[in-house]
Amino acid sequence: MKTNTTSPMIDLSLKKDGTTDTAAFARDVAQGLSQQPRSLSSRYFYDAEGSRLFQQIMQLPEYYLTRCEYEVMEDNKEAMCREFAGGGFFHLIDLGAGDALKTKILLQQLARQQSAFEYVPVDISGDAMAQLSQSLQSQLPAVQVEAVVGEYFKALEWLQANKAARKVVLFLGSNIGNFKTSESQDFLRRIRSYLRPGDKLLVGVDLRKDPHQILRAYDDASGVTAAFNLNLLRRINRELGGNFDLAQFQHYAMYNPGDGVMRSFLISKTDQQVFIRDTGSTYHFSAWEAIHTENSHKYTLPHIKELGQACGFNPETVFLDKKSQFADVLFAVT
Ligand code: AVI
Repeated sequence: MKTNTTSPMIDLSLKKDGTTDTAAFARDVAQGLSQQPRSLSSRYFYDAEGSRLFQQIMQLPEYYLTRCEYEVMEDNKEAMCREFAGGGFFHLIDLGAGDALKTKILLQQLARQQSAFEYVPVDISGDAMAQLSQSLQSQLPAVQVEAVVGEYFKALEWLQANKAARKVVLFLGSNIGNFKTSESQDFLRRIRSYLRPGDKLLVGVDLRKDPHQILRAYDDASGVTAAFNLNLLRRINRELGGNFDLAQFQHYAMYNPGDGVMRSFLISKTDQQVFIRDTGSTYHFSAWEAIHTENSHKYTLPHIKELGQACGFNPETVFLDKKSQFADVLFAVT
């Protein structure tokens, strides 16, 4: 379905099987809170308030990731864009584009070097895609844009059916780090299944570093990350009819340098019961019981290269910031 915006926008977010997002949310919450240890999926962080808080996180002095990746793009834009454009016309597919702050550096460069390409930002948020289309229209009118609203794989399926040309896929921001190890393999393999020799994938990963620095990024002094984590309970209250008392839970972040995983939790400060209307259950939390809410994996370069190789990609170029804190790894399809 095409909506009426400045540049064409494809909306794949409407479900055809009659199920609603709320039903899936309730099912996932019921499952996560019934198991031991309890968990809630970080994919549900991003309602309107969660997205707003994440924008704030990216500005925090402690949250170095966004600034580092911005620097990677600025410092390497010529080399990166030369590698993208090598094989003629291509679709630049930006999975989870959001406001495309970092991608805009590449778009400017591609426009400057007069590359033949079309930019296809993909995001689950229709509002974000409408705003991005509009901002690109005014900032980079020469760039051809077709935004897609929907989940990544629905978008890739649509692209496979509708866009035959070469593809360069971007998966930036260390979003891959939020998957479990097995999920990141499944994810990369699925992406690979939509690509052909000559196509490329650029993956942004946060690298291992001083554990104190990593911990501060997920437990900032002003409490924005705590609010972001707790907002998940507010979302359950609003959308699923829960009665979580947010004051009775606290954010807790823990980095394990042994496996390179930053883990976030919500801890019940007291013995308490919580009822959630849409799961039809009451949950009993003991004092200091934890709900695991997020993993943020930190990589070594051999590790990310091996992951790509195991999924049918060949690591071509590693782009780094000046302090080698963050990497964008360009893979070719083997
Ligand atoms: C979106 N993702 C890569 C962020 C991260 O660093 O894991 C989400 C986040 N969670 C807490 N702060 C930021």
